[in-house]
Amino acid sequence: MKLDATIAAIVTGGASGLGEATARGLAAAGAKVAIFDMQQDKGEAVAAAIGGLFCKVDVTDEASIDAGLAKARAAHGIERILVNCAGVAPAKRLISKKRDTGELVAHDVASFARGVAINLTGTFAMIARCATAMASLAPLDADGQRGVVVSTASVAAEDGQIGQATYAASKAGVLGMTLPLARDLAQYGVRVCTILPGLFHTPMFDGLPEESRASLAKSVPFPSRLGRADEYARLVLSIVDNDMLNGVGIRLDGAIRLAPR
Ligand SMILES: NC(=O)c1ccc[n+]([C@@H]2O[C@H](COP(=O)([O-])OP(=O)(O)OC[C@H]3O[C@@H](n4cnc5c(N)ncnc54)[C@H](O)[C@@H]3O)[C@@H](O)[C@H]2O)c1
Repeated sequence: MKLDATIAAIVTGGASGLGEATARGLAAAGAKVAIFDMQQDKGEAVAAAIGGLFCKVDVTDEASIDAGLAKARAAHGIERILVNCAGVAPAKRLISKKRDTGELVAHDVASFARGVAINLTGTFAMIARCATAMASLAPLDADGQRGVVVSTASVAAEDGQIGQATYAASKAGVLGMTLPLARDLAQYGVRVCTILPGLFHTPMFDGLPEESRASLAKSVPFPSRLGRADEYARLVLSIVDNDMLNGVGIRLDGAIRLAPR
């Protein structure tokens, strides 16, 4: 798909990190960009910087998604591009030990369900609504292409670490639905791809001490550093540009394979 000012894009999680870089990249390439995020101040600042639109949306709340879509479509028309970057990275072992008594305590189900609600169900809810709207649009080319969806899993979808059962399950779900969604949407000319980032330097990493960041960076075979958010954004732009990419998960990870811890 070629980008120009007639193409509307929605980026969830666009207020920060990988989503922010993607919103900036899509806008620089000519698209009209709407940022769906819960961080209002940061989201509005990014939207203002790129001539885009901020919509305060919680992807776990269907009414909130619908209000965001109504606002974005009133300003930009129906989206041709959806990039799902909204997400959280919960970490908790299946069994924890009470400090005072040594009693073993099982992982609660509520926090597992919450992680899945944001990372997986939120991604699904966005795709269901946006792809259905894309299907109503006129095709852009002789192939019949109408839209592109890019979602964000993680290398943890394939090699989740200790304490990552919730995160890995949610991201494996995002990866697992990629091919069936691409098959569902083929007749409507909508492509679906998923990126599995390795270790990327985003605000998530700023909380870590310099020492931990350096040791994480060293664990990447080549290039031996954390990924930069714009490298993620450039892969999104490549997926949008290359019409044969469909139904696939792409690792963007400098050849890292996560060890158990
Ligand atoms: N940074 C990495 O190394 C890395 C690696 C693998 C996967 N990922 C994935 O990439 C995505 C982006 O991560 P990031 O590193 O840019 O993190 P980030 O924290 O900088 O950005 C995530 C954004 O999602 C938003 N968000 C969270 N819950 C939301 C909700 N319910 N509704 C709407 N927005 C919500 C946050 O407000 C935030 O702006 C996440 O899905 C993350 O799991 C990141």
